[in-house]
Amino acid sequence: MKKMGQLYEGKAKKVFETDTKDVLIVEYKDDATAFNGLKKGTIVGKGVINNRMSNLLMQRLEKAGIPTHFIEEINDRETYVKKVSIVPLEVIIRNIAAGSFSKKYGVPEGTPFKAPTIEFSYKNDELGDPLINSYHAIAIDLATAEEIETIKKYAFKVNEELKAFWESCGVTLVDFKIEFGRLSDGSIVLADEISPDTCRLWDSKTGEKLDKDRFRRDLGGVEDAYAEVMKRLEEHI
Ligand code: TMP
Repeated sequence: MKKMGQLYEGKAKKVFETDTKDVLIVEYKDDATAFNGLKKGTIVGKGVINNRMSNLLMQRLEKAGIPTHFIEEINDRETYVKKVSIVPLEVIIRNIAAGSFSKKYGVPEGTPFKAPTIEFSYKNDELGDPLINSYHAIAIDLATAEEIETIKKYAFKVNEELKAFWESCGVTLVDFKIEFGRLSDGSIVLADEISPDTCRLWDSKTGEKLDKDRFRRDLGGVEDAYAEVMKRLEEHI
C-alpha cells in the first residue's frame, strides 16, 4: 500500500491516506504538548516507543475481544490503521486518584478507588476539551445512546486487560485516556493510541512516574521513563 497525501496533523501524530480504500497510515512524532498545546517540547524517541507500544497493546486487546483500528506495523514510526471517523469524546478511566481528579475533588494523588471511574471530555481544542456527561454528548449528537453504551463496555474491558498486563510488568495503571472511532459500517472500534502519553503508569514498588507527567510537571528523566516502560512491556508481552 502506497503512502498518499496527508489528511491531518495532530499534536503527536500525522495521518496519511493510502492508495487502498479505508486504510490510513499513522506516523508518530517526537513532539509533545501539554495544557492544550500551551507547553511544547520534544521527547526524543517517543514516536518510536508510542508506535510500538500502542500496536502491541492493541493486538493484545483484539485477542481479548475488543475491536481496534490496528492493521499492521510498517516501521518504527508508521502503522496501517483502519479509517474511522473519530467519536469526539476523550474517554478517561481511572483506578487511582491523580491529575485533574485530585485537583477537582481534593482527593490526594495515589488514593485507590473503590471501583474504576469513567468520564468523558468533549474533544474540542477551542473549548479546552471540557468535561461532558453522556446525556450532553447524546443531546448534541456527539454519539448515540447505543454508541455510548458500547464505548463504556469496551473502555472498562480495556481497563481490566491493561491493568492486569501492566501489573505483570511491575507497573500500576493509574488512569488513561482512549478514543473510539466508527468504521464505514458504523461499528465502534478502539482508535488513536495507548502509550505513556495517554496513560499514567507508576512503578508498582517505588511509585515512580513512568509517563508523560514527567514532561507535564518538569520532573526530568522523560526519555528514560518512556524507555523503561517500553522495556518492561517487551519483557512481558
Ligand atoms: P487528567 O487527570 O489530566 O484529566 O488526565 C487523565 C488521563 O488522561 C491521564 O492518563 C492523561 C490522559 N490525558 C490525555 O491523554 N490527553 C490529555 O489531553 C489529557 C488532559 C489527559
